Amino acid sequence: MTSTNNKTDISQRKADHIDLALQPQHQASEPAGFDRIRFEHNCLPELHLDEVDCSTMFLNQYCSAPLMIGAMTGGCEHGETINRHLAEAAEQCQIPMALGSQRAALESGLAQEVRKWAPTAMLLGNIGATQLQQQGVELARRAVESIAANAMVIHLNPLQELVQPHGDRDWRGVLDAIEQCCATLGVPVIIKEVGSGIGPAATQRLMDVGVSWIEVAGRGGTSWASIESARIEESREQQIAAAFIDWGMNTADLISGARAQSSQLGVIASGGVRHGLDIARSVRLGANMAAMAQPFLQPALTSSDAVIEKISVLSEQLRWAMFLTGSNNLKQLQSAPLFEA
Ligand SMILES: Cc1cc2nc3c(=O)[nH]c(=O)nc-3n(C[C@H](O)[C@H](O)[C@H](O)COP(=O)(O)O)c2cc1C
Repeated sequence: MTSTNNKTDISQRKADHIDLALQPQHQASEPAGFDRIRFEHNCLPELHLDEVDCSTMFLNQYCSAPLMIGAMTGGCEHGETINRHLAEAAEQCQIPMALGSQRAALESGLAQEVRKWAPTAMLLGNIGATQLQQQGVELARRAVESIAANAMVIHLNPLQELVQPHGDRDWRGVLDAIEQCCATLGVPVIIKEVGSGIGPAATQRLMDVGVSWIEVAGRGGTSWASIESARIEESREQQIAAAFIDWGMNTADLISGARAQSSQLGVIASGGVRHGLDIARSVRLGANMAAMAQPFLQPALTSSDAVIEKISVLSEQLRWAMFLTGSNNLKQLQSAPLFEA
C-alpha cells in the first residue's frame, strides 16, 4: 500500500470514528458503575457555595477542576477544528487536554498547531503502545517535542486492534517499550486503555516497570469494540467480534481497585464519566483526576464557546455535589460519607 493510500485510509477511519462515536448505540450497554455510589446527602452543609473550591494540582500544574479533556483523535477533515476548539477551551478554563493519537501527524510530518491555540495549558501527547513497540522511544520523543507536551500518554487497545481490519496483532515487547519510555522520555508517562480498562494484574506490571500514572478507561462509556465492529464488512469477523462487545471491567470498580492497590499511584478515572457528579464519585473512589472524551465531541464540533460551556456545567455539577456533601475542597470530598441503605 502506498503511503498516500495509507494516509487516506487513516483519515477515513478517523472520520468514521467521529461519526460513530456520536451515535448512542456505540455507548456500552452496561453502565460504568457510578450509579451504585451514593453519597450521604448533607442537609446541613454549613458552607457557602461561593467558597466551595474544586481546584487541584495535576503534575505540578494548577487545574480549575479535576477534569481533563480525554484523548480524541485528529488526523481527518474535522480533526483540526475539533482540536482547536478543545485547545482554546482548555486554555481558557485551565484544565488539561489530552490529544488523540499523534501517529498520523508524525508520519505525515504535519506540524501540530495545538500548542499555538493553548500556549499555557497542560497538553498531553498520545501514541499507541504498538507504535511505541515498533518505533521505539524516539517516536514518543518526537510526539512530545511537536506540541511541547507536559506529559505523554500511551494507549493500550488490544481489543480495538483485534476488531479493526489490519489492526496490530503483535503485542510482544510492549511492556519493555513502556519501561524504556518511563526511564528515558523526560516527561511523565501515563498509560491508558480505551474502554476495556486496566485491571489489577496489568496495573501491578505497569508499576513494576516504573509507571506512576494510569488512566483506567474502563467499560461503561464509548465502546470501541462496537464502533470498530460497525466498520467491518466481513460477516465472519463481525460474528467473532460480537461476543466481545461488552468485554472489559467497569470504571468505578477499577478506580477503587487501583487506589486500594497503591496509595502512590496517580489514578485518572475515565470510561463513561458523564457529568460532574460522576467526577465527584470518581474523586471519592480515589481518583486524582477524571477524563471525559465522547461528551466533548459534539461541543468540539460546534465551537470553543460550546466546549467552555460544557466545562462550566461539569464544574458546577461537581461543586454542587461538594456542597451537598458538606465538602469545601477535594480533600474533604475524598472522605465524604457514602450512604448504604
Ligand atoms: C472520537 C474519539 C476518538 C478517540 N481517539 C483516541 C486516541 O486517538 N487515542 C486514545 O488514547 N484514545 C482515544 N479515544 C478514547 C478515549 O480517550 C477514551 O478512553 C474512551 O473513549 C472512553 O472514554 P469516554 O467514555 O469518555 O468516551 C477516542 C475517543 C473518541 C470518542
